[in-house]
Amino acid sequence: MESRIFIFTGKGGVGKTSTAAAHAVRSAREGADTLLVSADMAHNLGDIFQVEADGKVREIAPRLSILELDPYDLMREEYPQINRTIGNLSGSAGLGIDRIGDSFMIPGLENLFSLLKIRDLYLSGEYARIFVDCAPTGETLSLLKLPELLSWYVEKFSPVGRFMTRALTPVAKLRYHMELPDNAAMDEFGQTYRKLLKLQEILKDPDITRVRLVCTPERMVVEETRRSYMYLNLYHYAVDSVFINRVLPAETGNDFMDRWSRIQQQYIAELESVFTDLPVTKIPWFAEEVQGMEAVERLCDDALADPDLFDRPVRGDNEFYTPIEGGYSLTVRIPGAEQEQVQVTLHELDLDIRIRNYVRSIPLPGVLRGAEMTDHQIRDGALVVSFRLRENRETEK
Ligand SMILES: Nc1ncnc2c1ncn2[C@@H]1O[C@H](COP(=O)(O)OP(=O)(O)O)[C@@H](O)[C@H]1O
Ligand SMILES: [Mg+2]
Repeated sequence: MESRIFIFTGKGGVGKTSTAAAHAVRSAREGADTLLVSADMAHNLGDIFQVEADGKVREIAPRLSILELDPYDLMREEYPQINRTIGNLSGSAGLGIDRIGDSFMIPGLENLFSLLKIRDLYLSGEYARIFVDCAPTGETLSLLKLPELLSWYVEKFSPVGRFMTRALTPVAKLRYHMELPDNAAMDEFGQTYRKLLKLQEILKDPDITRVRLVCTPERMVVEETRRSYMYLNLYHYAVDSVFINRVLPAETGNDFMDRWSRIQQQYIAELESVFTDLPVTKIPWFAEEVQGMEAVERLCDDALADPDLFDRPVRGDNEFYTPIEGGYSLTVRIPGAEQEQVQVTLHELDLDIRIRNYVRSIPLPGVLRGAEMTDHQIRDGALVVSFRLRENRETEK
């Protein structure tokens, strides 16, 4: 069986850890070697299973292991070179790096080391399924956009692209207010770049990695879940399911609770109307906390019985090019995005799509180098960007 990665994300407190844990229990029960990893600094895997957990892989049941990642330890002990490489990208306003002595900070950057560790665990082939319990949405999103941001940067400054680099320096300086690192640092970039690229490849391959949204039927959460679905699509992650947690029974026999139940039903209906193309699973609100193996097993039995839990289909048409007259159009599915929020900028080598402070940089295929962007529009939940090729392209060669 090919190894798979499932990433759980959602607002704080909605039940990410509980849902991820129940998935892991179900997976191990099926006889698959399973690892449940916490990438949330506020770890609670040990808590939920009432066992000891830390930076070491610990088997807590047959075929079920847990691991709580400490990005700072990983940074120092497992990835010092990458740490150094990225540390050399100093003096930046654009990436938000501040040097503090020997260490540096991009908000959330330390979490990149957790991702790199997950990449290595995946590549080790030891686990059939890896379940990742993530930090609350905002942090997860900045985490998931990091490999792309960094590999873009490293690409421009790797030895491979040195010639290009020189040509690009003023542009890079303008865009990211960066100083060029020295030559030795440049060589390490090459290696770091390949690692980041592989990380991106793994995370964005729908045959390997799936993102699962966890939410509760409340107004603030509904909004945030919609938005994170949009951003995850912007970055081309394959979101394959939604879990609505803490759902009250329709009739509780209690007036107060019944009123809350009706309020929940509205938000459940809203969520179902937003996520029409995803399976939506409801998880009941239990009378006690999800703590201890038995409680996790109950969640699993009550809500995760779907035989296809680990084999959900995803759309294959999230990003594609279509030939049009005089050029090509690029379609990027971004459900929920509105025309006014989306800014599209064509650079020489890439296309930037910006929604608020999230920028996705798409490297363009060779054929579109030097093409002109003629239009961009949101249509049926997708951004369609049209390009016209330069007319004298052929004669120029
Ligand atoms: N369906 C549920 N019924 C009852 N308690 C729940 C349920 N889901 C989660 N909890 C409890 O809510 C708290 C937060 O859940 P948790 O899974 O840790 O959320 P997150 O990881 O998103 O912060 C925990 O105390 C957990 O036991
Ligand atoms: Mg949690």
